[in-house]
Amino acid sequence: MLLQRVADKEGLLCTITDRVDEELLGRAPLLKVIANYGVGYDNIDVEAATKRGIPVSNTPDVLTDATADIAMALILATARRLVEGDKRVREGQFRFWAPMHFLGSEVTGKTLGIVGLGRIGRAVARRARGFDMGILYHNRKRIEKMDEKAMGITFVSLQTLLTESDFVSLHVPLTEKTHHLIGPEELARMKSTAILINTSRGPVVDEKALIVAVQRGEIAGAGLDVYENEPTLAPGLVDLDNVVLLPHSGSAPLETRAAMARLAAENLLAGLRGQIPPNCVNSSFLD
Ligand code: DGY
Repeated sequence: MLLQRVADKEGLLCTITDRVDEELLGRAPLLKVIANYGVGYDNIDVEAATKRGIPVSNTPDVLTDATADIAMALILATARRLVEGDKRVREGQFRFWAPMHFLGSEVTGKTLGIVGLGRIGRAVARRARGFDMGILYHNRKRIEKMDEKAMGITFVSLQTLLTESDFVSLHVPLTEKTHHLIGPEELARMKSTAILINTSRGPVVDEKALIVAVQRGEIAGAGLDVYENEPTLAPGLVDLDNVVLLPHSGSAPLETRAAMARLAAENLLAGLRGQIPPNCVNSSFLD
């Protein structure tokens, strides 16, 4: 659809589900700007756009808190079995209270491993401190020791993070390097009581391997907002009670989506005026 409509357009405001690749760019000779409605822009071939001198922009910052909130919500929902509990009550299965009914695991005081300490990873760390969690992080670049101390976080290798965390939360962009960052080997390193949270991009996790790991009890569960072949789910995922599944709604508060819309429109208008958009991701590569 988009392919058929870009021939005479100077600006493109697209969402994270629109594939903006060589083929599309080849059909859009007049294009001056690509404004993505979303912070992640793995849907866009930025290199191809840069070669054509087209600025690409995204919508950072405005969805940081909302996404961190949903990561925290998934931590609580998986550990305390919120979705299963709700279902049980609705089905009329809550007949009496008993000491061993509906046991979950505590969140307070546990160890959280944050993979990717960008804006969202940091916002998750701030929330986790409120739960008195110990926080490990792994990032391409270690941050200043002073900042680590202020944030109460400890830098470790990915291997150590996987081995020692009770919750592993992913906050990396999708790139060639992060594709299947969490696969069978990484899942095998995690504690059998640990829970994997993914609010970043689905292909960061090998979804089939995740299903096998949960089925075999190699990890205790998962909380997912994103999927490898969105919106299609790998077979078997929906059958797992200890996995909480959300419809990629990390940025879904109305206020957040409105702020994203404003930013995307501002970026688009700047590009149409021939300016570098305020949230340009390839400005350093443009002439
Ligand atoms: C983004 O902006 O990249 C988010 O995934 C949308 O919720």
